[in-house]
Amino acid sequence: MAKDILEILKEVEHPAKGDRNIVELGMVQEAVRDGNKVRIVLAFPKHRDPLAEYLAGSCKAAVVRHLGAGVETVVETVVREEPKPRKAGLDLGTEELARVRHIIGIASGKGGVGKSTVAVNLAVALARLGYKVGLADADVYGPSVPKMTRTEEDAPRAFEEEAPDGSVREIILPIEKYGVKWMSIGYFASPEQALIWRGPMACNALKQMILQVRWGELDFLLIDMPPGTGDIHISLVHDIPMQGAVIVSTPQDVALADVEKGVNMFRNESVNKPIFGLVENMAWFTPEDLPERKYYLFGQGGGERMAAKYGIPLLGQIPLVQGIREAADRGEPAALQDAGEGAFYLSLARRLAGEVNAEI
Ligand SMILES: Nc1ncnc2c1ncn2[C@@H]1O[C@H](COP(=O)(O)OP(=O)(O)OP(=O)(O)O)[C@@H](O)[C@H]1O
Ligand SMILES: [Mg+2]
Repeated sequence: MAKDILEILKEVEHPAKGDRNIVELGMVQEAVRDGNKVRIVLAFPKHRDPLAEYLAGSCKAAVVRHLGAGVETVVETVVREEPKPRKAGLDLGTEELARVRHIIGIASGKGGVGKSTVAVNLAVALARLGYKVGLADADVYGPSVPKMTRTEEDAPRAFEEEAPDGSVREIILPIEKYGVKWMSIGYFASPEQALIWRGPMACNALKQMILQVRWGELDFLLIDMPPGTGDIHISLVHDIPMQGAVIVSTPQDVALADVEKGVNMFRNESVNKPIFGLVENMAWFTPEDLPERKYYLFGQGGGERMAAKYGIPLLGQIPLVQGIREAADRGEPAALQDAGEGAFYLSLARRLAGEVNAEI
C-alpha cells in the first residue's frame, strides 16, 4: 500500500455510512503507485453496489487534486462478502428437534443395570412397530451405541447450511441402521478422548450432539442418559425438551434405592417431567438350555414394589439371558428377532407407546 495514496483516499467519504471515509471503513484493498500510474482496488459488500461508480469517481478526483492531472488512476471494484455469523450447536436452539413428537430420556440411578441395552432394543422394537425412531447416546464417558449396533466404522456426514436468518451452522446426519437413526459421541471421539472430558466440556459436546443432528420427522427420540444423577443429567433435562423418562433398574434392593435418585431427577420441582414407567432388567435368569425356567436370583417382585411405591407403571420385565448380551456384543440387537428375547422388547415398546399415547 502506498501510504501517500491512502492518506489521499481518507478524503473520500462514504455518503451512506455517516460520512466515514473509505479507508476507515476497510474498503481499500489495494492502493499502489508506479510512477504516473495509480491503481486502487475498492471492496464492496455486494455486486453492483449503487455507490461503486460514485466512489470510484471520488477516488480519481482526490488523486487529481493532490497529484495533478498527469497521473493516470485506475479504480477496480471487487466484492468482498462479509463473513456470515456462525451458530454453534448450543445457540441452535431446539429447531432440529421441532419435528420430534416424543423425546424420552432412558435413565437409571445406577450404572451397569443394562440401560443402554434396554434403550437400543427399545429403539429397534419401536421401529419394528412402525414408528419413526432416533436414539441419542448421551453417555459421553462410555458410549455404547456404535458397538451395540455394529456401526463403529461409520462416520456421520456433516455439512454447513445457511439458515433463513443468514447465519451458518453445521448440521450432522445421523447413522441409519435397523430402521433407527443413531447418534453417539462415540462416532467422533475415541473412548480415551471421551474419558478426559470434564464437566462443562462434556455437557456441551453432548448437547451439541443432540441439537445439531438433522433428526427429521420422528415419533420417538430416545436419549440414553449417562449413568448416575450428576451435573450432566441436570443440564440435559434442562436444555433438551424431554417429554418424560423411562427408568431402568435391576431387581436388587441396592439398585432400587438408586432408582429413587433417578426418579427425583425428573420429578423435582424445577424439572417436573412425568416418568412413563419402570423397566425391570435382569428380572430373572433363564439358562439357555432350560428356556422355560425362571430363576429369581435377586428376589421376585422388586420391580413391581418399586413401581407401586412411585406410582408409575411397570412397563416391562426383561430376563437375564445370554442371548441378549451376545446379541449386544455382536451389534445385532435382540429386538430384531420376533421370538425369544425379541418378544420382551416388542411388548415393552407397545406398552411405552401406549403410555405416551403415541399414534403412528
Ligand atoms: N437382560 C440382559 N441379559 C443379559 N445381559 C444383559 C442384559 N441387559 C444388559 N446386559 C449386559 O450387561 C452389560 C451392561 O449393560 P449396559 O451396557 O446396557 O448397561 P448400562 O446400564 O448402560 O451401563 P452403563 O452404566 O455403563 O452405561 C452388557 O454386557 C449387556 O450386554
Ligand atoms: Mg450405558
